[in-house]
Amino acid sequence: MNDLYRLLVGLIKADGPMSLARYMELCLGHPRFGYYMTRDPFGQTGDFITAPEISQMFGELVGIWCADTWFKMGSPSPCALVELGPGRGTLMVDALRAICKVPGMAEALSVTLVETSPILRQTQKKALSEAGFTIEWAESVFDLPKTPVLLIANEFLDALPIHQFIRTDKGWHERVIGLDEHDQLCFGLSPEPINGFNKSAPIGSIFEDTRISASIIEQVALHFKIYNGAALMVDYGHSKPGFGDTFQAVKAHGFVDPLALPGEADLTTHVDFEGICQIARGSGVAVSGPTTQRDFLLALGLFERASKLAEKGSDEQRLAIRGQFDRLTSTSETGMGKLFKVIAIHHPQLDDLAGF
Ligand SMILES: C[S@@+](CC[C@H](N)C(=O)[O-])C[C@H]1O[C@@H](n2cnc3c(N)ncnc32)[C@H](O)[C@@H]1O
Repeated sequence: MNDLYRLLVGLIKADGPMSLARYMELCLGHPRFGYYMTRDPFGQTGDFITAPEISQMFGELVGIWCADTWFKMGSPSPCALVELGPGRGTLMVDALRAICKVPGMAEALSVTLVETSPILRQTQKKALSEAGFTIEWAESVFDLPKTPVLLIANEFLDALPIHQFIRTDKGWHERVIGLDEHDQLCFGLSPEPINGFNKSAPIGSIFEDTRISASIIEQVALHFKIYNGAALMVDYGHSKPGFGDTFQAVKAHGFVDPLALPGEADLTTHVDFEGICQIARGSGVAVSGPTTQRDFLLALGLFERASKLAEKGSDEQRLAIRGQFDRLTSTSETGMGKLFKVIAIHHPQLDDLAGF
């Protein structure tokens, strides 16, 4: 039983069972024991690997997307390049390298990273120390610079807490985390049924309520309506809405029991892209996509970029680039090419964005 486990047991004894959202919030973001607050979880020796950590090509193509969108926005200056949940800062480093090749764009840009983890902020600061930009950090999307914004986010939405509701023969109940007879964390249901959900859903159906992502999308949309802007969001998830449990815990590149090691495993859910698109459209902005990561990267020139890098490389480097290309685009069940989706949320007057 680790420190956070003991703390959670104490909280549940004092206040009763907690929602899944509260559990995720504490496990990922508790200031002392939260997963992202205490470690750099990326890479082969960590818990998982993300697209920018697999290959520089991912960030470079995101940079090219930003440049193309900046032109379509009328090359605004000043313009803020904002990343949500920047991890090690690798995506931003690679994107800025591509952006710096575009005449006039670097001079127009400010760079803001929205990051809650002090450890990862330090890693980002180091990674970006030679990028040639002054980097600002922000706590949330409520602190965006009051200028046009280009926003990027890879595997950010999946880290946001969700509520889950389960249909029983007595109606819909919130899924909660409580204690069993041995004071071990266990899943349970709130006693009172909740009104307002689909009454004809089969018993056992699970509905995931993503109100926290929704409030972020609404805020971004509001900003774009006032100041102009576009957001590129990449994540794993489903493009059709539906009922189902997507809550999962990952440690050392494998799935683990989400209640076993609070604060020591990454907790995520699959992103409901259809839901995100509806919220964005309902907030008065436009949406491009979703498309798959494979189609997006190929449309932006992944094959050409990989060939160019391979041309200059040794046999070993060529093999590595081939491997990176395959990992980013593979459409196998576990590959990133199909499971990961890409959407752009943008000012309604922007259209024909690259990659869609
Ligand atoms: C799965 S990592 C993705 C990292 C990076 N984008 C990448 O692709 O390598 C999630 C990132 O989001 C950050 N994060 C999680 N919750 C956050 C929140 N509520 N606000 C800002 N950043 C958050 C984490 O600290 C981490 O940097």
